[in-house]
Amino acid sequence: MKQKFEFEFEHFEQMESLSDADSALLIAARNATKTAFAPYSKFKVGAAALLSNGQIVIGSNQESASYPVGICAERTLLNSIGSQFSSETILAMAISYDTDEAACDAPISPCGMCRQSLLDFETRYQSPIKIILAGKTGSIMVVGAAKNLLPFGFDGAILK
Ligand code: THU
Repeated sequence: MKQKFEFEFEHFEQMESLSDADSALLIAARNATKTAFAPYSKFKVGAAALLSNGQIVIGSNQESASYPVGICAERTLLNSIGSQFSSETILAMAISYDTDEAACDAPISPCGMCRQSLLDFETRYQSPIKIILAGKTGSIMVVGAAKNLLPFGFDGAILK
């Protein structure tokens, strides 16, 4: 029997079409790119999360001279929230980037490791994380839950 995985996402031509809360989060993610440490890739990623207490927390990619040791913006942020705000759930996360090498006018999407970490948080807190993806300018994609980005993801239930 054939089965199909599909999900809906929203596509907006401009930030003005977003809700006030979503555009505030995207602005925070764009600002967070300034905190990136990306001397090797020169690709600065910023992420911002809206917590259940209304607080916005930011993270950015932090690279290492030993390249694989570097960590993406999304996991910097998730690990920071897991440590500092473990009683809050994450309602939404915006992700943006900045680089001199490209126009930055199209969204990027989280890497596989970050998708796993996002899924881990959704499973841990039993709460979907809305994902808002955009460059410095241009269109914006909004996905209702991180689990949509990782079909057949490993949620760890079997480890119990
Ligand atoms: N990076 C992120 O921080 N998030 C992503 O979603 C994609 C990639 C970082 C990792 C590395 O520091 C740089 O961007 C280039 O891959």
